[in-house]
Parts: sequence; structure tokens; C-alpha cells
Amino acid sequence: MSEVIPIFSTPLLINHLEISDDLKQYVREIDYEPVHIGNGDWSVDKNILNGERFKDIKECVLDSVRQLSKGVYLVHDDIEFVVSTSWILRHRYGHHTVMHNHTGSLFSGVLYIDIEEGGGDIVFHNERAMGSSHAYHHVSLPFRHVEYNSFNTPHYTVPPRTGMLLTFSSGVSHSVRPNINDVERYSLSFNVLPKQMVNIKEIIV
Ligand SMILES: [Fe+2]
Repeated sequence: MSEVIPIFSTPLLINHLEISDDLKQYVREIDYEPVHIGNGDWSVDKNILNGERFKDIKECVLDSVRQLSKGVYLVHDDIEFVVSTSWILRHRYGHHTVMHNHTGSLFSGVLYIDIEEGGGDIVFHNERAMGSSHAYHHVSLPFRHVEYNSFNTPHYTVPPRTGMLLTFSSGVSHSVRPNINDVERYSLSFNVLPKQMVNIKEIIV
């Protein structure tokens, strides 16, 4: 008798929020600067969720983090989470984001404020997949698979929709495919830490 054990697994939490037309208009009007990796622009304000306008959304973001932490990772209730950084990302035609993760954070995520089909799917990379180095380069594996599963797939693609909120461990590598239409794509990214860790960070700095 043989047995296969899925020794590790990676959760991706998906929620859905309502995005008002006011908010869509607001993100069009704020100030942007070029991002430091890949291309596209991000808001000059890197604590966008602290604004009064984002009060409800910030609560939803923290709720989703608690859902992931307590409901999936089974962390005890005594941890309080805080948003350490948050910004709006704007992708125009052809803009994309190279593979990266959010080092220095515990949970991260993205809320799609305004996106159309073809605006750029998010791709999660399985660095432990069979033939792991292929995961980054999108090169076909040198084996034919009957079908893909969580052991052999090099990446998992999510086609974003306006209002979709994705939350995941900050260590999970991801990238964004190019925006292939002329409509600007707006998303809100965030990093979350336990309050206790923010204090530690302040002490170290
Ligand atoms: Fe990211």
C-alpha cells in the first residue's frame, strides 16, 4: 500500500466588495509616480488606506486578514493586525509587474478598484512545483502531464474582476500580466503585520 501526503499547501482567500463610482473616479485623480519594479505607476500616498474615504475598505481588508489568519492558519485570537503600507497601482496599456513577493510583511493582498477583461491577470508562482525553476520563466516543463494539479502546476492564474479582494501570505510570489487594452487598470495593494511586530520593527529601526 502506498500513500501520498500533500505536505505543504498555500491558501489564497478571495472575497468580493462593492466599489462605488465615486471611488473609481477618486483613484483617477490622485497623484502617481513610476513604480520601483516593473512598470506602471503607484500612488504617491503609500498609506492610502489611512484616508477617511477608505475607512470601510480598510475594515474589510483587516477582516479578510483575520479570516485567513484565524480561519485557515488557525492563529490564536490574541493577534491584532495593522496595515503597514497600502497604495494604488495604475497600469496603462502594456504595463505589467514582474514576479516578486512582499518581504518584511506577513499578509498581503490586492483589491481591484477598476479593471476590465484583459487588464492583466495576477499569476501566483509555485516555486516548489516539479521542475521549480520553470515556474518563473513560464517555460513548458520537459514532461507531458495528463492534467495539472497542485503538485505539478508551475503557476496559478486568477482573472481579476472589479471588487475582487485577494489575500495571501506575503511570501507567495506573484506577477501581473500585461494590460492588453487601452483602459487603465486600478488596484489597491496592501501589507499587513501583527501590531506586536510593528512595535518590534520600530525598536530595531
Ligand atoms: Fe505584489
